[in-house]
Amino acid sequence: MSRDVTLLWGLRSPCAFACPHCYFGTIDEHKAAPPNQIGVLSHLSRTDLPAQAIEDFVRTLPDSPVERVVIAGGEPLDWPGALEVIALIKQAGCQVVIATNGIPLTRPHVVERLVGLGVDGVSVSLDSADASTNDRLRPSRSGRFGYDQVLEGIEALLRARGTGPVPRVGIYTVVMRPRPQEITGMARLAADLGVDYYVPQPISLAPGHALFEELAHRPEDVAAVADELDRLYAEPAGLALPDTSYARRFVEAISTHDSGHVPGCFGGARLFFIQPDGSVWDCPSDRRIAATPPEARRTIRGADARTLFADRPACTDCDLFSRDCVNMWPLMDLPRMLNGEATQ
Ligand SMILES: C[S@@+](CC[C@H](N)C(=O)[O-])C[C@H]1O[C@@H](n2cnc3c(N)ncnc32)[C@H](O)[C@@H]1O
Repeated sequence: MSRDVTLLWGLRSPCAFACPHCYFGTIDEHKAAPPNQIGVLSHLSRTDLPAQAIEDFVRTLPDSPVERVVIAGGEPLDWPGALEVIALIKQAGCQVVIATNGIPLTRPHVVERLVGLGVDGVSVSLDSADASTNDRLRPSRSGRFGYDQVLEGIEALLRARGTGPVPRVGIYTVVMRPRPQEITGMARLAADLGVDYYVPQPISLAPGHALFEELAHRPEDVAAVADELDRLYAEPAGLALPDTSYARRFVEAISTHDSGHVPGCFGGARLFFIQPDGSVWDCPSDRRIAATPPEARRTIRGADARTLFADRPACTDCDLFSRDCVNMWPLMDLPRMLNGEATQ
């Protein structure tokens, strides 16, 4: 069976950070009113799958169409079961990339294990090259962790890798309307740290979100972002970046809030999104999840990856474009970025 499926798997819901713009919402908001709509994520969720159900599914990955698993959350590496799950996914012959807030990388046994397991990529989130700005945008819940520990974690992972080929180490940065300059500022920091790949991604907020007015891009912001992206791609400073079509998609995405037609989308064809409760969706877009009819809902609980992803279209035509779509493109471009191939 040919392997061409990427899974974006939100493995666990909790996180030690309380980023106010997070896809998982905020704890304060959810303490007052726990969300109960289908597909809505929460750091306070009580429905994360038990370890056994996760492992049962993962043991069906060999001989399935799943080629790559991108593990996110919540914070996956704070969960004690994560390293065992990662080991099983690697044993299944899949590529594994982990999205982390970076703090678990300050624990020596975690980095040693990630290197030992041959994890292919570790994407670390950092939203500003300036320490205090980053810690305001990405506050930890305890107030004890932030920029300094994230850099410490990245450096520890690079040291543990040594001259070995993996994991490739990347930085992911959420670009917000007041700070287009982070696009090139973070590239300089990433290059100084010796990081391998870098993905600036536009903030994606629903128009009703409390921070929408402050952080979501408006038409008048587009020129400054486009200029920064031009400068980044002109001088990538040795970093692997998403392919150049990404810069155009980024700019197009922040130019509109309208839903649009996405011809030949890979969501539901070569990309699937798994929620911490095991629900499987074509992609993480809230528009696409809301539009999924009840009879098309699926779960990994008790499922076999060999049959779950067997019957799928070559691509899907989608009329539900959202700003979040652009954040899926780098996932499909991961093999090239992890190979360190030049950006073209
Ligand atoms: C939800 S986090 C989960 C993994 C891990 N805890 C971390 O901090 O990277 C995955 C990525 O989504 C980004 N992200 C969260 N909310 C976002 C939003 N509203 N728009 C764009 N990216 C967002 C984060 O910054 C991070 O890079």
